[in-house]
Amino acid sequence: MMNKKVDDLKINIFADGANKSEMIRLYNQDLIKGLTTNPTLMKQANVKNYKEFAVSILKYVKNKPISFEVFADDFMDMEKQAIEISSWQENVYVKIPVMNTKKKTSYDLIKSLTDQNIKVNVTAVMTCEQVKSIENVLNPEVPSYVSIFAGRIADTGVDPTKTITESLKILRNKTLSEIIWASPRELLNIFQAEAVGCHAITVTTSLLNKLSLVGYDLDQYSLETVKMFYDDAEKSGYSI
Ligand code: G3P
Repeated sequence: MMNKKVDDLKINIFADGANKSEMIRLYNQDLIKGLTTNPTLMKQANVKNYKEFAVSILKYVKNKPISFEVFADDFMDMEKQAIEISSWQENVYVKIPVMNTKKKTSYDLIKSLTDQNIKVNVTAVMTCEQVKSIENVLNPEVPSYVSIFAGRIADTGVDPTKTITESLKILRNKTLSEIIWASPRELLNIFQAEAVGCHAITVTTSLLNKLSLVGYDLDQYSLETVKMFYDDAEKSGYSI
């Protein structure tokens, strides 16, 4: 559809966002294999009513996985929210933060939810130790995702490909559990995630818009860049 390098990707590309029309538009593209959102993206998109927003999207998004996040901080309330969110439609995964704001880990809750047949997407994960603990509690018969925030890991100067590679090993016996490379920083991350055999990557619209550049001739791109500098200097009327 776009170009061979993109068409040949094995990794599942999920669209991350909270703009309803954008989410529905992307859902309808063959390249996009699922959708994700989170409370921060929803706040940025000025979503006021959580359930109304989610349910209105689910009218259109029926056949690809979509993740909505709990927002309670107490594990009992998180569980109630997870049960409710998961009841909205079969393709819904419930995002459970790996810990709450008191730094209490969510592993017991993840076990309880997956044992109730609820599909979870464990989110804000950044270490292999967390992945080991998650692996330990996930019900092997229930599909789940583990979202590793690769971009945030990279922001600390740590190479996230190592974390993802190790996490894939940790989860290898849980055949229904997949790792998502979350919080990407650049288009190259799609190919890095693909190269280590990561199952999925969640990508914002601004990165998706760069897909048209994949495989672009670099001499041509170099020329266009030089023209950009020239044109902008000319428009500014610079002289020395
Ligand atoms: O999917 C996770 C993403 O929305 C968070 O990304 O850029 O805030 O690290 P970022």
